[in-house]
Amino acid sequence: MSRYDLQGRRDLEDRLRKTVDPKRGQIPMFTYSDPGVYELELERLFGQTWQFVGHVSEIPNPGSFITRAMAEESVIVGRGDDSVVRVFLNSCRHRGMRLACEDFGEVNNWRCPYHGFTYGSKGDFLGTFMGAPFEKSAYPEGLNRDALHLVEARCETYQGLIFATWAKEGPSLDSHLGNVKWYLDLLVGRAEMEVVGHPERWVVPTNWRLPAENFASDAYHTATAHSYLARMGIVKGADFGRDGYHVDVGGGHGLGVGVHFDEQSYFPAELAGEYEQRLDQGQLDTLARIKNMHGNVFPNLSFLIPNFVEVDGQRVSGSMLRIWQPAGPNKTQVWSWHFVEKSAPEWWKKLGRRMYTQTFSASGMFDQDDTENWELQTRNSDAALYRGEELMLHYGMGLDLPTLDATEFPGPGDVYDGKFSEAAGRTYYKVWLDHILNGKR
Ligand code: FES
Ligand code: FE
Repeated sequence: MSRYDLQGRRDLEDRLRKTVDPKRGQIPMFTYSDPGVYELELERLFGQTWQFVGHVSEIPNPGSFITRAMAEESVIVGRGDDSVVRVFLNSCRHRGMRLACEDFGEVNNWRCPYHGFTYGSKGDFLGTFMGAPFEKSAYPEGLNRDALHLVEARCETYQGLIFATWAKEGPSLDSHLGNVKWYLDLLVGRAEMEVVGHPERWVVPTNWRLPAENFASDAYHTATAHSYLARMGIVKGADFGRDGYHVDVGGGHGLGVGVHFDEQSYFPAELAGEYEQRLDQGQLDTLARIKNMHGNVFPNLSFLIPNFVEVDGQRVSGSMLRIWQPAGPNKTQVWSWHFVEKSAPEWWKKLGRRMYTQTFSASGMFDQDDTENWELQTRNSDAALYRGEELMLHYGMGLDLPTLDATEFPGPGDVYDGKFSEAAGRTYYKVWLDHILNGKR
């Protein structure tokens, strides 16, 4: 369906209104493959909402930059010569060539590889003799420098995480994140964190929402999809029970926290002092019990403290972030970051890297399992596009479960006892539908 076919779009909106039923936990299968749905997502969801683009430790100096993506659009995330972090569309204002073709670097300015238009680190088209080659003879009538400023996104950070949005107005990052900040603190706010190396990237033939909703709301699959790793002793120490909590955070964000019942925290004792300085008592109590934590910041930033596993006789985990970057209705570019506490002891850093490589990364065994499922779900939804009847998927787990109160779990949101629920998945789809039908910010 083309975006210019208005009647086709209205028919699609009607079909979505009639069939997507988050309250009852029913989501039609066509939404995972339909090109028209994907167009609505690019325009009304990714064109409006906050998106994660990187971590401040990746651009440490004035002039440092990384190239990232906001949905299908390439962006430059740069630290200006005034040290301010900014996000620009990676597109020259002359004829739209990609300005920065490297993954990262450090520059005084960006010079377009096509005709040489040059921009300063604040996105400004540079002055006479610097902005355009042979400017006086090529443009004797002069150039409007303001009109040639790079297209800039609104940019804010939380706990070192850089987010950007194309919406000139609308909610602040703080209000977009809402209650999920409490949980992000556990992940990347518990200490000063740094990215280990550079993010890994790989492409998965899946619709981007399948992994996002998996991280938000699907602890249930682990016992089937991954448990052989523990049963065969390939990954030591992992288990996949229901002990813990399911949290429908609000705003489409969702997560699960797996807990242990040992007296001692599994995190390194050497870091306890730094954690105490940065977290409140409820967060410290929760961190001390964490065995794993998975979640998703709406729409496509997933996070993970993987199940603690044994590497070289030591119990170890880490902090990970994922972007499920849409690259078509059934193609997703995965970006995967591994974080570690800057002041962590060497053993935690070293074994953490091995844990990352073995479990959740391009070579990770858990990723191989998950990818197989997402790819085959997507192929089935492709095929379902041509069926005469509507095939509905089931998101009804835990429909009538009661929520816990603050005396039972200190974190915010609608919290459920045990990890088996799809409440957060249902809210994810309620918020998603609001966006793609109403262009909600
Ligand atoms: Fe960039 Fe021409 S496209 S200078
Ligand atoms: Fe999984």
